[in-house]
Parts: sequence; C-alpha cells; structure tokens
Amino acid sequence: MIGRICGTGSYVPEKIVSNDDLAKIVDTSDEWISERTGVRRRHIAGQDTVVSMAAKAAGRALENAGISPEEVDLILLATSTSNVIFPSAACSVQKEIGAVNAGGLDVSAACTGFLSVYQMGQAYIQAGMARTVLLIGAECLSRLVNWEDRGTCILFGDGAGAAVLQADASASCLQTALHSDGAKGWTLTCDSRHKEGAKDLSKDLSTYIRMDGKEVFKFAVTKVPEAVREVLKKAELSVDDISWFLLHQANIRIIESVAKRLRLGMERFPSNMEEYGNTSAASIPILLDEMNRSGKLERGQKLVMSGFGAGLTWGACVFEW
Ligand code: COA
Repeated sequence: MIGRICGTGSYVPEKIVSNDDLAKIVDTSDEWISERTGVRRRHIAGQDTVVSMAAKAAGRALENAGISPEEVDLILLATSTSNVIFPSAACSVQKEIGAVNAGGLDVSAACTGFLSVYQMGQAYIQAGMARTVLLIGAECLSRLVNWEDRGTCILFGDGAGAAVLQADASASCLQTALHSDGAKGWTLTCDSRHKEGAKDLSKDLSTYIRMDGKEVFKFAVTKVPEAVREVLKKAELSVDDISWFLLHQANIRIIESVAKRLRLGMERFPSNMEEYGNTSAASIPILLDEMNRSGKLERGQKLVMSGFGAGLTWGACVFEW
C-alpha cells in the first residue's frame, strides 16, 4: 500500500517586497533580478513564524482533503529556518491544529526538504506504520538573509505549503531517488546563531546565507535531469508520460535549463517564483497547492517532483495524482 495526496494547502505572509523595493537598499535593479532569476516579488514574514505559517498551510490542506486533525498519524515538517530548536516546529503545529493523535518531527534537508518528507511519508505508509501523514514545508528565510548582500537577498522569500498523504489501495506508480554530496556543502552555507563563544552574532556573516551562485547553478542543472531520468527509468516511464514536472522554485533559468536537458518545452514546468522567490522547502508544496486549486491536476496524471539545494542534496520522485 502506498499513499496518495488527497489535499493541499499553502500560506504566504501578506507583506510583499518588490525588486524595486530591494533596489532602494542594495545596488540592483528589477531588470537584473528578473532577467537572471525570474523573481519579481517575495513575501516576507512580519509577525509570522515557521510554526504560524506551517499551521495555516496545514489547516488549509486538511480542509481541502476533508480530513479531521484527529485522523493525522504523523506530521513531517521540512524546514531549515525554525526560530526554535525545540520543541520541534512539527510538535507546535500539532498543538495549533489539534492533531492530538499525531507524532511529529522536523526534517532538515534545505530545498530538498519537501521531497524528503514526501519520501519519508510514503515509507511510513508502505511499512504500515502510518495511514495519514501531514507533509509540510515551511520557511522563514528572510531572517537568515544578509540584506546587504545583493548576491543572495534578491533570491529568497517566506511561506509554507502542506499536503495530506493518505494510504490508498488504488494508488500506484511511485519511484523515488534521494542523493547528497557533503563534499560540496561549502557552496551554500549558513552557520548556527548559537555558536559557542561568539558575542555579537549579528556581525558574524557566516550566520547568514552564503552562496557560490555559479557552482550551485551548475550543480542544479546537472543533477536534477539525472535524478528525473533515474526515477523515470525505475518506473519504466518516459518524459512523455509525465503531465507536470514540479521543480523546486529557485530560479527560472535553472528550470529552463533542466527542461532543455530533458529535451522538453516549458509548458509542463509550472513556475511561481515570480511571486514568491525561492521559499526553499516550501516552494514545491506552494506550487502543488496552486496547481491543485486552479484545477490543473487530474486524478491519474503522473507527476514528477524534484528538489535540490544545500547539503548538497537533490532527488526526484514520480507519482500518480
Ligand atoms: N544586482 C546587480 N548586479 C549583481 C547582483 C544584483 N542583485 N548580484 C550580483 N551582481 C553582479 C556581480 O557583482 C557581478 O558583477 P561583476 O561582473 O562586476 O563582478 C555580476 O553581477 C555577475 O555576478 P554573478 O554572480 O557572476 O552572476 P550570475 O550570472 O551567476 O547570477 C545568480 C547570480 C545568484 C542569480 C546565479 O548564480 C544563480 O541563480 N545561481 C543559483 C542560485 C540558487 O538558485 N541558489 C539556491 C539553490 S536552492
């Protein structure tokens, strides 16, 4: 028995910061940012936290699925930006939404986070250890961004997305791949703000997101097509069998390059980074929710999801909607 996604939800903070707004604080322009990344705006948390955003997205996903919070067996929450170390964000969400029968844990896999919790949720269901799993990706990246670094602050945004995965005897077609390369971890880093002996961490630039953009770009456009081909081969499917390719929303040029390497046009590669920027673990479930609510997903369609990011981590999965 495997799981099928039976509901989705998302939440982004109200506050919008446009490229023109950013051009007032760093030396950049709307033209430079949108041409190089596809991002035009991002939503930034004010009072919101990872937990508050995750709880709102989760509540909407349960409502969309028509499932009560008591039915949830497990909450898997992907995040790298929780404001607390413990209790886990998943446990706080459990309390917020009243999922009184659920266990919960956080998963740290950066922008591969949602793909990772999807795979874990499927493994729990396949093993018979859970029937209904709430998958969440939630990030508050604005708190880790150095707003004086034009090379990174233009890219990221805040938000949360969620999906309910439920055991379904009629669900078939699931293949997954997950990889990491710790040796390349230096290309995208952010140190903890709980460093021993450190005094004024706000001045310690290693506690902000730092990135070698070109290396990360090269990594993504090489590894994502490989992972997609890997899961399609395992599933004995071809790219023509896939209705939608839902890629982590880091940069439109990465998605264009992946599509080209798979010898496909962009029609089956939806994107929304124009509105949200890169929301890390939240990007795929926010996109999935938009696709679901706009009626673009039909039961029986085969979908590919692919995440990639810090770690380095990457992977893909193919499944039936
Ligand atoms: N506005 C204007 N100019 C900028 C700028 C900005 N926001 N950021 C950098 N520049 C400048 C650089 O200083 C450099 O100037 P120089 O030639 O005078 O030295 C020039 O633009 C080119 O910089 P470079 O870093 O080589 O640009 P790039 O073409 O590699 O684009 C990224 C930079 C970050 C957009 C691109 O590397 C990228 O998208 N990488 C992937 C990042 C990513 O997706 N990370 C998350 C993965 S999960």
